[in-house]
Amino acid sequence: MADTVLFDMDGVLIDSEDVSVQVGIDYFRSKGLSLSRSDFEPFLGAGERVFFCGPAEARGFSFDLEEASRYFRLHYAGLLEKYSAGRPDGLALRTVRKLRSLGFRLAVCSSAPRWKVLVNIRHTGLQPEDFDTVISGDDISANKPDGQIYLTAMQRLGRKGSDCLVVEDSINGVKAGKNAGALCLGVMTTCSPSELAAAGADFIASDISVLMRGETMKEVNENLAQGLGDDRKLYGANYVLKNENLIERNSIELMISLAAQVREKAYAPYSHFKVGACLRSAATGRLYTGCNVENSSYGATLCAERNALFHAVASEGIIGVDALVVYSDDDPPAPPCALCLQALAEFTAADSLVILVSKKGERRQYRFDQLLPNPFIFPSERK
Ligand code: THU
Repeated sequence: MADTVLFDMDGVLIDSEDVSVQVGIDYFRSKGLSLSRSDFEPFLGAGERVFFCGPAEARGFSFDLEEASRYFRLHYAGLLEKYSAGRPDGLALRTVRKLRSLGFRLAVCSSAPRWKVLVNIRHTGLQPEDFDTVISGDDISANKPDGQIYLTAMQRLGRKGSDCLVVEDSINGVKAGKNAGALCLGVMTTCSPSELAAAGADFIASDISVLMRGETMKEVNENLAQGLGDDRKLYGANYVLKNENLIERNSIELMISLAAQVREKAYAPYSHFKVGACLRSAATGRLYTGCNVENSSYGATLCAERNALFHAVASEGIIGVDALVVYSDDDPPAPPCALCLQALAEFTAADSLVILVSKKGERRQYRFDQLLPNPFIFPSERK
């Protein structure tokens, strides 16, 4: 059981990333180099120096690091106030106070320089004294994903890895927590649930509010382990956010009419068997359609279901499919073939809905695992 919580700062207790990126953009613009947010993204969470210099160094742009650091220090706090980035809802404040009242030991472990960590802590309404220790980039010689920062905190607090829960938002940060032997909660400020899971996160949640569930230390641990407040869901080999808060999830009726429409576009000169498919993304509720596309070399034919699935993946990346409609002129309505079921299994959950509809209007509804109870999932990806 964890009795100690080690927080990363940026992206966990405060949303300051946009502010840091903006200071970086402003500084390099003043030096004649035009950068955008995407230039900084690969360098987030890997320490301030790497973050600030990485994009310019990647372009072979030489600059004075001392001057850049001075500029950053001079402008960061002001811009943070202006953007009021912290958590205006006081989430960090409430979570830290609650965990303290339950007896948890607490630390901040941020790769940022000490001055910035202190500015950030105060911006959330907390004080450095609200934590048992505050470790910054100035205290360590090896950046995340090295575990040094977390091992240092454990040593200062007299705790071992299994006593500690690390809370992180970046891939490098999650890896650092795991390298230090701690349990790790990944919050979804910066990365997708699948990216956090792949980095080794033991728990994944939207934000740190998951730590406020429970009235004792034991309950907080149990609730986290049970996945309460944890809105990831396993789709095939992938953890994907299941967004239960969509104001209106597109309806099955709409999916059926889109599947019927796209079926008209099927290219089926050989079989004359036209199929339309429409699937719904669990994370965004968006709908993606596909029809079958045949080929002179019959084996090169693509079915409607895989066409819709690949369309979705190309648009959203890793996707969870919470519903699929297949529309054909078959009686009873045709199910997806075994190849499509196997392809879909990578992105569906056991209870994803599959609705088969015939042109005559007959409907059959299944759970995905009724159609394919035992998909092949690559051994290392089985959860
Ligand atoms: N077809 C699909 O589009 N989906 C299925 O799951 C079954 C088969 C298409 C492929 C081919 O163009 C035609 O139906 C006959 O096999």
